[in-house]
This record gives sequence, structure tokens and C-alpha cells, in this order.
Amino acid sequence: MGVVMAVISGKGGVGKTTTTANVGLGIAMNGKSCVVVDFDIGQRNLDMLLGLENRVVYDLVHVMDENISTKQALIKSKMNPNLSFLAASQTKDKSVLDSEKIKKLIETLKNDFDYIILDAPAGIESGYEHTIEFADKAIIVVNPEVSSIRDSDRAIGILDAKSQKVKDGQEVEKYLIINRINPEMVQSGEMLSSSDILDILNIPLIGKIPEDKAIIDASNQGKPIILNEDSEAGKAYKRVAARFCGERVDFVDVESPQSGGIFKKIKGIFS
Ligand SMILES: Nc1ncnc2c1ncn2[C@@H]1O[C@H](COP(=O)(O)OP(=O)(O)O)[C@@H](O)[C@H]1O
Ligand SMILES: [Mg+2]
Repeated sequence: MGVVMAVISGKGGVGKTTTTANVGLGIAMNGKSCVVVDFDIGQRNLDMLLGLENRVVYDLVHVMDENISTKQALIKSKMNPNLSFLAASQTKDKSVLDSEKIKKLIETLKNDFDYIILDAPAGIESGYEHTIEFADKAIIVVNPEVSSIRDSDRAIGILDAKSQKVKDGQEVEKYLIINRINPEMVQSGEMLSSSDILDILNIPLIGKIPEDKAIIDASNQGKPIILNEDSEAGKAYKRVAARFCGERVDFVDVESPQSGGIFKKIKGIFS
């Protein structure tokens, strides 16, 4: 049975879709079968990041509502045969998602893949709740900013209240990815350090991804940054994927260990 991992953040634009694409491809590169599913109804992006936008015929809603089989809707990545993709629909109507139908879809995917990664929409509304509903694990993506940490805290609250696993008396395992770390800004105290963030959120860290301009180019070309051997962010995502596949990979310092003064100022908000 495959493992279902929801990629969440609360706040938009922090790197959920980038993380889904790179961790998904990274897991596939480690020899595991993986499917990435875009749950961002109406704002799909994952297809572009994977270079698959021209191959989408059927999407999530076709599978749930129109008797299209999962097999028909899945698209195999050209970059790695272990990676498949299921697109979000472009409909504006977000109420198309329905718990029973999602459950059925996820059960089908669990039979066919080792990892099922769900890319959540921004916010903490119904689309988000459906993404976390049947998750075994959650990847929480934050930027080293107070607003991002706060929003992720809210998203985690909903995860711990509304996911099926929690309702069954179990726990959804959480993993933290800190994305867009700017070493100079951490050093100058303008940006939270990872130890500041870990103090606040208390979630096991699975990756620290530096800010990397090459990500924009990678997204535009539909070639995830993990394929770029020279990119620090790409290397960081490689380490994250290896960790998810059970390898012990040491953390690389992508920032200065020095934490700045803003931590003290904002700590009160969370206490
Ligand atoms: N580590 C990074 N360095 C530079 N840009 C990044 C990084 N991670 C994400 N981005 C950029 O930030 C924007 C938002 O990322 P995206 O993955 O779409 O976020 P989300 O899915 O959370 O809305 C995109 O333009 C993406 O290219
Ligand atoms: Mg996104």
C-alpha cells in the first residue's frame, strides 16, 4: 500500500507546487513509484512545472465525475518512468471535490504507487481540507517569514482536527521544509533562521532549501530544479527525496548558524 503525503502551507506562494514536483521526481529517481496529484482546482500549475501541460486530456474531476478511469487520466513523466501525474481541473467551481470520491481515487492510487503526493491549494478552505483528509503524512512548506509560520500553524491545526487518521485516533506524521532561505538575510538578522522556526513549530525538519534564481527558469522550462546538478536548491531537494526514501542524509548548512534579533520580537505572537 502506498503512502499518501499532502504538501501544505496555509499561505500561498511559498513553494508547495515546486516541492511537490521536485520531491515527486526525486522519489521516482530513487527507484520508487510515485504519483503527484494537483489538488489546486482552478489554478493548476503542477502540469507546467513538470513540462506536461500539453499532455493533459483528463483531470481529477473527469475521474471523479465522468467515469474516466484513473489509468486513462494519469500521465507518465518523460523525465522518469516511475513518476506519474494527475492534473487538477480548470473549473472555477471548487465544490467539485467530494470526500467519498476522493477516498475512492486515493485507494486506487495506493494500490498502484509507493508514494502519492497531493499538492494543496493556498488557504485553509474546503480544497485544503480535502487534500489533507486521507493523508498519512504531511509535508509542511514554510518560508522564513513570520506570516508564513503563522499560516502554517493554522493549517496544521486543521490537519490535526479534520484528517481521517486523526479522527481514527492516529497521527498524521509531519515533516517540515523551510524553503527560500537567503543566507545573507539570515546572517544579517533580517530573516528567521531554521532553528528559530523549529523552536516555534516543533516539527521534524526534512529539508532546508535555499533561495535559488534557477528555480524560475526551471519552472518556465518544465524541468524541475532537481535535474540541475549545479543548483543548490536542486541538491537540497535531492537530499529531501532520499530522506523520504529512508536514507540517512546529513543536513547541509545552507544558512549561517547565527540567528538574528527578530526572533525575540515575534516570539510573543506564538506563546
Ligand atoms: N527556493 C526557491 N528559490 C527561488 N524561487 C522559488 C523557490 N521556491 C519557489 N520559488 C518560486 O516561488 C513561486 C511560488 O512557488 P510555488 O511552488 O508555486 O508556491 P505554492 O505552490 O506554495 O503557491 C514560484 O514562482 C516559484 O518559482
Ligand atoms: Mg501551488
